[in-house]
Amino acid sequence: MIRLDRTATEPLHEQLYRQIRDELKSGRFSEGSSRLPSSRILATDRGVSRSTVRLALSKLHAEGYLRSKPGSGTFVANLLPESFLTAGQPKTYEPIQRPARISDRVRAIPDKRAGNQFDLGATGAGPGVSLVASIPAVDEFPIAVWERLRAQVLAKKGVNLLRYSSNRGDVELRKALAVYLCDFRAARCSADQIVIVAGMQQAMLISAMAVLNPGETAWIEDPCYQQTRRVLSLAGIKIVPKAIDTQGIVIARSPKELLPRMIYVTPSHQFPLGVTMSFQRRTDLLDFARAHNAFIFEDDYDAEFRFVGPPLPSLQGIDNAGRVIYAGTVSKILCPSLRLGYIVAPEQLVDSFVKIRSAMDQHSSPIEQATLARFITEGFFLSHIKRMRKIYAERRDFFIKQFNELLGDRFTLQVPEAGLNIVAWLKREEDFEMIKHITSEIGVRPSALSFFCIQANLKPAFVFGFAAWTRTQIRESLVRLASALRNYDKNLNYGRQSR
Ligand SMILES: Cc1ncc(COP(=O)(O)O)c(C=O)c1O
Repeated sequence: MIRLDRTATEPLHEQLYRQIRDELKSGRFSEGSSRLPSSRILATDRGVSRSTVRLALSKLHAEGYLRSKPGSGTFVANLLPESFLTAGQPKTYEPIQRPARISDRVRAIPDKRAGNQFDLGATGAGPGVSLVASIPAVDEFPIAVWERLRAQVLAKKGVNLLRYSSNRGDVELRKALAVYLCDFRAARCSADQIVIVAGMQQAMLISAMAVLNPGETAWIEDPCYQQTRRVLSLAGIKIVPKAIDTQGIVIARSPKELLPRMIYVTPSHQFPLGVTMSFQRRTDLLDFARAHNAFIFEDDYDAEFRFVGPPLPSLQGIDNAGRVIYAGTVSKILCPSLRLGYIVAPEQLVDSFVKIRSAMDQHSSPIEQATLARFITEGFFLSHIKRMRKIYAERRDFFIKQFNELLGDRFTLQVPEAGLNIVAWLKREEDFEMIKHITSEIGVRPSALSFFCIQANLKPAFVFGFAAWTRTQIRESLVRLASALRNYDKNLNYGRQSR
């Protein structure tokens, strides 16, 4: 029985379509009664216009519920579309409980999970959690501009953006990035050397798989971005952790230390310690890589956010021997959910990288790539970076001032020249476990520096993120932390006195 509600927000033709479809699915139409009344009769019966009826019927036709017999009228299809889409329910069998055989590869990936289910993506800064390291201010992302540009590229390129596309990446995007990197990161590259990837992790995985065989060695910074270790483990690479000093990664090695085929570094701003690699160390590292036929993987994840003086040129820009694989990401500049990054490969590696990408997942979304190309060429990228740098600089200064005022008795801040994080060293090492516990209880969640360490035995410290929170939120979080620590001290003293 069809009942149309003229007060509903659902258009009349949609209501009609839905209700006729449900009637058909209910199976009440027999072969004999499968002829539909004409659109004129339906319109008169239901008190709607013929165009409303035609719209509903044409949708039912398009989806395969109706068929036309020229000269005879419209009939219910012999088999409704559901019969081609809905699998029959299988017989249920008693489940057999036996542990699944898991590959060594899975076991090799370091696993510091938060709960029972493995899902690192869901353990970031949720509501009510603050001061988490490495989180950019995504609420400042210009969604309206992005949406407008996306609509424009879709209108212009249409179905071309819906097909499988280049494994190298959108050519307009590669051109725009080459210009940006040469102008602002002092890189020396052409668009032909750029491969668009799904973020830094994929850049690392592709690079490692292209230049190392399983069982070969990579040096990585220690402490290090935790995903580097996980990605290289996935590729079956032997990891040698290398210490960080005031100039960056330490190159000197003990005689028994394996020579690397690849060296992973974050020269602009070491993660998580914040050291900017000195010019001397950069040239030493390039000399070392050249002498030992190794590649350097330069992770330039947040070089755009410098607060003190001009940046040093990228390693890629001072490499004259094709040793540096440079990689960038939009995760910090724009937002991590886009999953877009780029590799600038030495010319002789480009093809191998593209081959790996083609076997991995083909390419990133052409729609988002084309939108990003527009975002860059129309100047939004640079103006967003400038705006965010200013916001981050203000938040950083505010964080430092408030932190020193409220928590200066317990921590010494190590203020880096760049980036979205600040390391706070404990003044009393024995406070570490207590602070770790309290921060997790109150939702102010810096990471323990030890989380990023492999062999490095550093003094206890926490890595605070400041970028994603407003001044009010920063102040409120630091006050909450300071008062939780004061309460802890009070309870401790009270406990001592009453004993
Ligand atoms: C050192 C470093 N590299 C890269 C990234 C970002 O990687 P992705 O592009 O995979 O999001 C991060 C994020 O925190 C990072 O700390």
